[in-house]
Amino acid sequence: MDDFEYRGKTLFCEDVKIEDIISEVGTPAYIYSKNAIISRFHELKTAFQDADALICFSVKSNSNLSICKILAEEGSGFDVVSGGELFRAVKAGGDPSRIVFAGVGKTDKEIKYALENDIFMFNVESLAELKHIDTLAGEAGKIPRVALRINPDIDAKTHAKTTTGKKENKFGIDFTEAEKIIKQSAQYTSVDLCGLHVHLGSPIYTVDPYVRALRKVVKLIQKCRNAGLDIRYMNIGGGYCISYTGEKVIRPKDYASKILPLVKEMQCNLIMEPGRFIVGNSGILITRVIYTKETIHGKKFVICDAAMNDLVRPALYDAFHRIWPVNTSIKMPEVEKFNKSMGKRGMDVVDVVGPVCESSDVFAAQRALPKVGEGELLAIFSAGAYGFSMSSQYNSRPRPCEVLVDGDQYCVIRRRETHEDLVRGENFT
Ligand code: LLP
Repeated sequence: MDDFEYRGKTLFCEDVKIEDIISEVGTPAYIYSKNAIISRFHELKTAFQDADALICFSVKSNSNLSICKILAEEGSGFDVVSGGELFRAVKAGGDPSRIVFAGVGKTDKEIKYALENDIFMFNVESLAELKHIDTLAGEAGKIPRVALRINPDIDAKTHAKTTTGKKENKFGIDFTEAEKIIKQSAQYTSVDLCGLHVHLGSPIYTVDPYVRALRKVVKLIQKCRNAGLDIRYMNIGGGYCISYTGEKVIRPKDYASKILPLVKEMQCNLIMEPGRFIVGNSGILITRVIYTKETIHGKKFVICDAAMNDLVRPALYDAFHRIWPVNTSIKMPEVEKFNKSMGKRGMDVVDVVGPVCESSDVFAAQRALPKVGEGELLAIFSAGAYGFSMSSQYNSRPRPCEVLVDGDQYCVIRRRETHEDLVRGENFT
């Protein structure tokens, strides 16, 4: 739990009491630690320094301008997947010459926008897309760098809905198709086909899938070079894991020890697209208990004011997030996954739910928690990645505010939405 810790009986982010922030901004609220974000970025950078990797922060994981700005200031590039993300990255101070653009469905409008910005590279996911980029670049008189995104058909052993590198997934180009494209690449005179890209899914808890994918790609690089292509870049995507449970997980240096020798063998410059690793454990979501209720069957619910529209990961992927009261005399277990504290004194076994009208609006099912009552604050941990960025206004619920902590200071980096924000842009017929 980077930079979030209990001091005495209350939770802090860096040197600020969570309770103090909440008394000013209300709930639900996302709270991020600037120090955690910067530390994680540099941990990754250091682990891969032998390859002088270009680290492109994956904007989809947390697209707040202030978060992107922090990373831009640290020298990060950006991985974007839409015109909107490109707009955000540039607005936050991101250097376009360090921006890579992925995605299976880039529109002509988005391609033109990226060309105008002279981004570093397009990660191309089909022959059809390559043709569009080639034509549009020709019209604009530009020769953008292009990497073919390869679908290596590797099972990264992650959730079915976050796996991207298997043959049945929509992402990337299979080896047979890639070889065909390489053979006819001389036709595409307005692109510089100089890289390969793989992204296997996320989070990936072992290095093995990366190694297997890269071994397959090494052979393709040779074929590219034999066909006269000057392949200079290998983009290994994102997917680096974080601990959601408190258990120890592998770290960047563990990935690096196995990946770097392969990249060296490829004689390529390394590009990486981490999202979750940098921001996942750098943010929490604070919610307030509205009611508690117990059914005649003895089932206990803690109903809080955050819901699946604010953090959809548990509803969408059955994702596990640690939850603990902000103020409590009971210590949060170091590893919580197995509900070791069930049945202990002062504890309840509850479902933590939100107010949205969906049965899947559950943050935690049958979870051991210190007894909590109306008005108490709960922290939902590991919410910095794919938290706010996947939020919606479903059930016409204004989205929460976002707060950034820096040492003993904090500031609101996105204000809470209002009811007026909900209807902005709508007209009566
Ligand atoms: N590069 C590409 C091409 C990607 O599609 C993604 C994530 C990343 C990099 C960054 O992956 P990361 O390092 O953050 O794991 N919403 C899901 C995760 C979906 C990720 C989609 N692509 C979740 O909440 O777990």
